[in-house]
Amino acid sequence: MNTKRWSVDKYVDDQGSYPHISQAADLLINNEVVAFPTETVYGLGGNAKNDEAVEKIFAAKGRPSDNPLIIHIAEEEQLNAFVEEIPEKAAQLMKQFWPGPLTLIFKKKEGALSDHATAGLSTVAVRMPDHPVALAIISASGLPIAAPSANRSGRPSPTTAEHVWEDLNGKIAGVVDGGPTGVGVESTVVDCTEFIPVILRPGGVTKEQLEAVIGEVSVDPALVDKGEAPKSPGMKYRHYAPDAPLTLVDGTKEYIQELVNKKKAEGLSVGILTTEENVNFYQADYVIACGKRDDLDSVASSLYDVLRKFNNTNADVLFSEMFPQEGVGHAVMNRLMKAAGHRVINS
Ligand code: TXA
Ligand code: MG
Repeated sequence: MNTKRWSVDKYVDDQGSYPHISQAADLLINNEVVAFPTETVYGLGGNAKNDEAVEKIFAAKGRPSDNPLIIHIAEEEQLNAFVEEIPEKAAQLMKQFWPGPLTLIFKKKEGALSDHATAGLSTVAVRMPDHPVALAIISASGLPIAAPSANRSGRPSPTTAEHVWEDLNGKIAGVVDGGPTGVGVESTVVDCTEFIPVILRPGGVTKEQLEAVIGEVSVDPALVDKGEAPKSPGMKYRHYAPDAPLTLVDGTKEYIQELVNKKKAEGLSVGILTTEENVNFYQADYVIACGKRDDLDSVASSLYDVLRKFNNTNADVLFSEMFPQEGVGHAVMNRLMKAAGHRVINS
């Protein structure tokens, strides 16, 4: 398949005057799949009502069919067509955080969406992305759009159109390039079918921000204890892993350097994921800065690009510094722990 690529100005104010928006929307209407930017990561969109379109998404990504997709909407009214009810706390969260990096899980109205999109579950995950290009494409299609991250399954999520191209060129109908995404990690997923809503995946909206609006919010035990089975099907898969084995190090930079020296003595090529503050400290084959330690938003926004960069090196082993579990740091550490297969060395 010949994958189209359009470059757009990120700030679309009048969808009618941007031909690439209507071309992308037409492809969606014709049940083709198209990647587009959101404020978190690039999504691979398809008509959520059509089995064939949804199957194309799973096929392009190589995604296991038991992992449901997030449905993207541009207007709240779209929800009524496929959601059974909107609990009060969900309504408050929507008011505060939509459009934005928050996915809410509702009871699904049967028959309104492709069953493949929701992996046959009785619930459905929905979000309204805060990105003018995503909103314009969804609006122009007039459809609920199923959109997982636009990476091959298991790879780091794409934060640029180039990342999408690396993974999916030839496998999808098109990519709309709206420049690098902002948040850099995926949306927070919150199950609103429980009286006390539960965070199933940490992301761009933090627990503290959620609790400020609706009071107590709990966290899926599987996020804390890896022995528990996660409630979100996608969280059980190995994900984001770079090609070389990654280990997180809970220790000083001097300690990390000692670990590097040992590996070098074994003849191995070593990479380190650090931040701008420490990038000149280390002596290793590949030292890559992932944002600034005192600005966790910058770490989140560079993380997947940095994980992908290590794949373009000849590193045999990788070490990463750890980050504080506060604010978006929860999401950063959640993704890093997965990328590391939960390997952590304590000094
Ligand atoms: O920021 C994002 O959320 C990005 C952009 C493109 O919007 N999308 C994204 O989609 O991260 P994906 O498919 O990579 O991750 C969706 C996650 C998976 O962990 C999936 O298992 C979970 O949401 N999920 C979807 N529907 C669910 C449901 N009904 N119950 C529990 N978890 C669900
Ligand atoms: Mg994903």
